[in-house]
Amino acid sequence: MAALRAGTCALPWAGRFMASNRFSWKLASCKTALPATTIRPRRFATAASEPTPGKPYYITTPIFYVNAAPHVGHLYTMVIADVLKRWRVLIGETDAQLLTGTDEHGMKIQQAALAEGMEAQALCDRNYKKFEDLAKAAGIDYDYFIRTTEPAHKDAVQYFWEMLQHRGFIYTAKHEGWYSVSDETFYPAAQVHKSLDPTTGHTRTVSMETGKEVEWSSETNYHFRLSAFQEPLLDLYKTGFITPTAYAHNIVKSVSEGLQDLSISRPAERLTWGIPVPGDDTQTIYVWVDALVNYLTKAGYPFAPGQGARLGWPADVHVVGKDIVRFHCVYWPALLMALDLPLPRNVLVHGHWTINREKMSKSTGNVVNPFFALDRFGVDTMRFFLILQGELAGDANYDNAYIIRDYDKTLRNGLGNLASRAIGCAKGEVPTYIANGAEGKLPSPTSADTDYETQLRELPSKVASHMNSLNPRAALQEIRAIIELGNKYFHNTSPWENPTARQRSIYNIAETIRMTGILLHPFMPTKSKEILDMFQVNPQRRSFASAEYGSDPTYGESPKRRHLFPRLPFKDNE
Ligand code: MSP
Repeated sequence: MAALRAGTCALPWAGRFMASNRFSWKLASCKTALPATTIRPRRFATAASEPTPGKPYYITTPIFYVNAAPHVGHLYTMVIADVLKRWRVLIGETDAQLLTGTDEHGMKIQQAALAEGMEAQALCDRNYKKFEDLAKAAGIDYDYFIRTTEPAHKDAVQYFWEMLQHRGFIYTAKHEGWYSVSDETFYPAAQVHKSLDPTTGHTRTVSMETGKEVEWSSETNYHFRLSAFQEPLLDLYKTGFITPTAYAHNIVKSVSEGLQDLSISRPAERLTWGIPVPGDDTQTIYVWVDALVNYLTKAGYPFAPGQGARLGWPADVHVVGKDIVRFHCVYWPALLMALDLPLPRNVLVHGHWTINREKMSKSTGNVVNPFFALDRFGVDTMRFFLILQGELAGDANYDNAYIIRDYDKTLRNGLGNLASRAIGCAKGEVPTYIANGAEGKLPSPTSADTDYETQLRELPSKVASHMNSLNPRAALQEIRAIIELGNKYFHNTSPWENPTARQRSIYNIAETIRMTGILLHPFMPTKSKEILDMFQVNPQRRSFASAEYGSDPTYGESPKRRHLFPRLPFKDNE
C-alpha cells in the first residue's frame, strides 16, 4: 500500500488551515501510525443538551441506498425528520435545516449496476431521482438533497480520512471476517450462523441479526482505532444521546463487552465503486465512513476554524431506523471524537414497518410502493397514519385497512365532523361567540366546560413537551385525544338544544379546531392550512405561540361548512 504523500490534501484551503493548526503537518503513513496506547481520546462536551443558540437547528434523514426503489419504510424515516423540522419552524426557528439524500457508493450499488448491465454512475443517476421525487411527493421540506457521488462530498470524505490518518487513528492490518454486501458490514464469527435457504435447499451462512447472507473475506485493509473509544462512548450514552432509551441499553451492553477496531477500506480490486483512499488508489474507502460524512459535508465541512456552528454543525438530530443504530451510535461518534469534532446531540431511532409481521424490505420483496400509497390516500393522510401508528421503540404492521380506520375515526368523523357540526349549530353566530369568548364575556362555565377548557389549555404544552423530547407520535396522540374528547364534550353539552350553553360550547369547539389546526401543521401541512383557512385564522397567527387557548379574538368571521375530510376513495382493503 502506498503511503499517503506528505503535504497532500483533498482541499486546497484546508491545506492552509492545516498548516496553521496545532498539529504539525507531517503525515504518518498508515503503517507508521501511533500505537494505540498513545492515543488518548478527549472527554467531550455533553450531548443531548439544549440546542445551541444562534446555530441553525439541523436535522438529517439517513441517506438511502440507490440499488432499488423507495418503499414505505423510507417514506416513514423522511416524514419523521420533516415533522421535526416543521415543528422547529412552528416554534419560531425559521432557519431550521433538513438534509436528506442518497448513498450511492459501495459493493451493494456496484453489484446492482453489474446485475443491470449498467455503469454504476448511470444507475445512481437514474435511481437517486426516485428518492428525490418521493421527498417532493410527500411534502418533505428539505433544504438540501445530497448525493454521495458529488465532488464536494468526495473532498470532504478524503479530508476527513486524512485528518484521521494524521492523528494516528488509522493503521493497516490483515482483516478476516464475514462480510454482508446487503448490510454493507462485517460480522464477527459469533454473529453468523448456517441457515437453510428454503427457496434453493442450500445452506448459507447468514448474519444472526439481519438474516442476510455473508461471505468470507480475507484481505489487508485500513483500520480505524475504534477500540480506543470505549470509555468516551459509554460516557456519551449517559447523556441521553440515543432516543428512545430502549436502544441505548443494547448499545451500552455491546460496547461494554469490548470494541474491535473497524475495517474502513476494501481493496480496489474488489470494490471499485467508491472514494479512493487519499494517496492509495489500491484501496477504496468503506461505504459507511463515506456515507456518515455526508452529514458533515452539507454543514460545510471541512470547517474554517470556528465556522462549524454557523453552518449548522453539530447536527441536532439524526433520524435513523433501528437497523443502523450501531453505525450512528458507535462508529459515527467515535470517528468524530477522533477529530475532536462536536458530536451530534441526538440520534432518534425508529422501528420498522412490517407486512404480516415481517420487515418491509426491498431484498425480501414485501414492499409497499410509497407513490401509490400517497396517491391513493393522500399525502396528509399518509403522514398522519405513519406518525400515529409507526413506533419508535417497536415495529408496526402496515395494512391499508388501518389507514382507512384511522382516517375515518379521527379525521373524517372526528375533526371534520366536529368542525362542520359546530358551524351548523351556531347558526351564523360563530364570530360573536369567538369575540365574547376571547373577551371573557361568555356565560359562566359548567363543570363540563371547565374540565374541557383545562384540557385545551394544557394541550400546547403537552404537544411541545413530546416534540421537544423527539416523540412526534406521542404529540400526535395528544391531538387525537383532544379531538375525541372534543366530540364527547360537544355531544354532552347538547348545544343545539340549549342556547345558553351553546355559546361556550361552540367557542370551545372553535378553539379546538383552531388550536389543533395550528398544532397539526408539522404532521399535515396541507390540511392544517385548509382547516385554518376555513376558520379564517390570520396567517400571522398560526405559529405555536398562537396555539394558546383564548389567545386569538380575530378569527372565524364567516366559517363555511365543508367536508374537510371527504370519504376516501376505497373502503376495502384492496
Ligand atoms: N444507506 C444507509 C444509511 C446511511 S446513513 C449515513 C441505509 N440505507 S437504506 O436505504 O437501506 O435505509 C434507509 C433508511 O430506511 C434506514 O433508516 C432504514 O432503517 C429505513 N428503513 C428501511 N426499511 C424500513 C422499514 N421496513 N421500516 C422503517 N424504516 C425502514 O441504511
